[in-house]
Amino acid sequence: MTAATQLRLEIPEPRLVSEHAEQTELHPELNRAHVRFIGLGKTYEGKQGPVAALHGIDLAIQRGEVFGIIGRSGAGKSSLIRTINRLEQPTSGRVLIDQVDIGAFDEDRLVALRRRIGMIFQHFNLMSAKTVWQNVELPLRVAGVPKENRDRKVRELLELVGLQGKHNAYPAQLSGGQKQRVGIARALVHDPAILLCDEATSALDPETTQSILGLLREINQRLGLTIILITHEMAVIREICDRVVVLEHGRIVEQGPVWEVFGNPQHEVSKTLLAPLQHALPPELQSRLHTQPQSSADAVVLRLQFTGTAQDEPDIAALFSALGGRVRLLQGGVERIQGHVLGQLLLAVTGSPFAAEELHQRAAQWAQQVEVLGYVV
Ligand SMILES: Nc1ncnc2c1ncn2[C@@H]1O[C@H](COP(=O)(O)OP(=O)(O)O)[C@@H](O)[C@H]1O
Ligand SMILES: [Mg+2]
Repeated sequence: MTAATQLRLEIPEPRLVSEHAEQTELHPELNRAHVRFIGLGKTYEGKQGPVAALHGIDLAIQRGEVFGIIGRSGAGKSSLIRTINRLEQPTSGRVLIDQVDIGAFDEDRLVALRRRIGMIFQHFNLMSAKTVWQNVELPLRVAGVPKENRDRKVRELLELVGLQGKHNAYPAQLSGGQKQRVGIARALVHDPAILLCDEATSALDPETTQSILGLLREINQRLGLTIILITHEMAVIREICDRVVVLEHGRIVEQGPVWEVFGNPQHEVSKTLLAPLQHALPPELQSRLHTQPQSSADAVVLRLQFTGTAQDEPDIAALFSALGGRVRLLQGGVERIQGHVLGQLLLAVTGSPFAAEELHQRAAQWAQQVEVLGYVV
C-alpha cells in the first residue's frame, strides 16, 4: 500500500462542512462512525435561569448498530438524540453524521438531513383526522413526491410493518401497537439511514413491545438502518441493543456492549437502573441471615455472579461437588446476552468440610464474582 492510499484510508479530522462528501462515499472505511458527538453541550434557557442538560458528550455510534441510551428521567437522553436531527441546537461541541459536521447546515440541508433521519415517539404523533395511508403519505406529499411513487412507497411500507389491511383505518380505530407501526412506516418514507426512537415502546404492553422490537430488529437487519433508541425499559435494551450508554445529569457515566454493562455494571446509576433485572435476595431469607455463624450446622449463603467473561454455562455438578456437603439452590439462573453467559446463583451450603473462606475460593473457579452473604440457621 502506498503512502498516499494509506492516508486516504485514515479517518479524517472532522470538518466543519463537507467539502469532500463524495470522497467519503467512495471510502466506506471513512464511514465507520455513523454518528459522532464531540464535546457536545446543551444548556436551555429555562424560566428560572439556565438549565444545563448535556456536558462534554463524546460518543461514536457505528453504522448499522442498535444503540441504546438509558438514564433516569431528566438525564438528557431526549436532548441528546434530538441534536442528531437538529430538533435541538447544541450550545457547544459538534455532531458529525458520516464525518460531516451538521452544525453549519443551512435550512435546505437541514431539511434534507431530517429526511434521512426517521424518528418515532412514545405517543406516536399521528394525525387523528387522517387515515393510516394518509398519515404515512403526508411527508411524501410535503416533499413533492409524485403520486405514483407515493402510492408505491406507502403500499410497500404498510406491508413491511404488517398493516396492509388497515389502509383506510383512522388512528382511533387502531391498537397502540398498530399506531406505532404507522409511526414506523411514516419514519421510513424517505429511506432514512438512521432511526431515532424516543421511548417508542413505553406506552405499549409487554406483548406488543415484543412485536414492535421484532419489527425494529427486522428493519435494522433488512434495511441496514442504524437505530438509536432511548428507553427506561432495561429488557428492551437487553432484547435488541448492541451497545448502550448510561447518562446521568447530562454526562456519560458508563458505556459498552450490552452484555458487559448488564453483566457487571460499574456506576451506581447503572446498577440502580439494572437492579430490577437482578434477583434480589428473597425477603424471607434476608430476614434470617446472620453475619456470623450461630452454630456449625448453619448454612453458608453464597452469591455467585456470571458476568459474561466465561465461555460456557457453569458446570453445576462440578461446582456443587467442589463445594462439598449439601448444596441447595435458593434462587437464580443464567441467560445468554450477545453470546455471553450472564446471571447469578444463590446457594446455601451445609455440612461442608470447608469454611466460608475456602467455599468462596472454590466457587470462584466457576463464577466471576462470589460473595459470602452470611449464614442461616
Ligand atoms: N425546552 C426546555 N427548556 C428548559 N429545560 C429543558 C427543556 N427540555 C429539557 N429541559 C431540561 O433538560 C434536562 C434534560 O431533559 P431531557 O433531555 O428531556 O431528559 P430525559 O429525556 O433524559 O428525561 C431536564 O432537566 C429538563 O428539565
Ligand atoms: Mg426524554
